[in-house]
Amino acid sequence: MPILTGHARLAGIIGWPVAHSRSPRLHGFWLERYAIDGAYVPLAIRPEDFVPAVRGLLAAGFVGANVTSPHKRAAFTLCDSVDPSAQRAGAVNTLVFSDGKIAGSNTDGWGFLANLRAHGVDPAAGPALLLGAGGAARAVAAALLGEGIGVTIANRTSEHAHALAHDLPDLRVIPWERRSDALPDHALLVNATSLGMQGHPPLQLDLVRATPNLAVADIVYVPLETPLLSAATAHGLRAVEGLGMLLYQAVPGFRAWFGVEPEVDAALRRFVAADLLPG
Ligand code: ATR
Repeated sequence: MPILTGHARLAGIIGWPVAHSRSPRLHGFWLERYAIDGAYVPLAIRPEDFVPAVRGLLAAGFVGANVTSPHKRAAFTLCDSVDPSAQRAGAVNTLVFSDGKIAGSNTDGWGFLANLRAHGVDPAAGPALLLGAGGAARAVAAALLGEGIGVTIANRTSEHAHALAHDLPDLRVIPWERRSDALPDHALLVNATSLGMQGHPPLQLDLVRATPNLAVADIVYVPLETPLLSAATAHGLRAVEGLGMLLYQAVPGFRAWFGVEPEVDAALRRFVAADLLPG
C-alpha cells in the first residue's frame, strides 16, 4: 500500500452495488507499479444519492471517477460536457473533474476496440454481428459504427434491439433466431449478452456456418474462457476474451487522473484474473 501525502490524487468507482467491481484492484495495480501518490476507491452510492455524491466528490477535490451500473445514464445527464464517445453511447463511464467542471466520456467502446487490436483482430475487416441489446451492446455498437463498420444486431427481445437501432440508426436488426444463419456474412461476432457468464446458460450458436476468418469476441470474462470462446478455438477461429476490454477501458481514465499512460500487459492481466478464479 503506497503511503499517501497531502497532495494525493483521489479517484474511484461509483456503483450500486460496487463490491463486485475489479476496478479498484486494476487501478491499484497501476498506482503501485508507477509509484503514484494517489488512490482509487470503491464508492457504493445509491441511485437517489448519485448527483449529490458526485458533486461532493468534486467539492472534496477528487480528480474524477468511473461510473458503473446503474448510474451510467445519470452520469451522462449530470456532466457539464460529454465527448463524442459518450454522445454515441448515450452513457458515461468516466468522469474527469477539472476547474470545477465535470467532463464525461465512455471508454467501454474504445476498450473493446483496443482489446480486439491487441489480439491482432482488425475490427474493420468486415461487418460485425452483435448479440445483445443492453448497455454493453450499446457501447460496442456505437464504437463499431463510429469506425464506419457495418453492424447487424440480434437480441432475444426484439423491442430492445429496435430501441437501440432507433438511437443508432445505422444498425441493422435481425431476429434472434437468425443469428447462426447470419454468421457467414460477418467477419466479427460479438457476444454482448450475459449468456455464457458463470451461473447463466451458454450461448447457443452454430459456428459451423462461420467463415474461417471469423473472429469471435466475448464481453463476458467470468469465466475467462466462455463456452463460446472454447467453441471458437475448437473451430479454428480467433477468440478474443472479454477481460481485455475491462483492462483497456480503464486506460483513458487512469491517464487523465494520474498523468501516466498505463500499460496493459500480461502481469496486469494475471493480477486481475487471479481475482476472478472460483473460490
Ligand atoms: P448489460 O448492461 O451488462 O449489457 P443487460 O442490460 O442486462 O446487461 O443486458 C443483458 C443482455 O443479455 C440483453 O441483451 C439480454 O437480452 P434481452 O434484451 O432479451 O433481455 C441478454 N440476455 C440475458 N439473458 C438471456 C437469455 N437467456 N437468452 C438470450 N439473451 C439473454
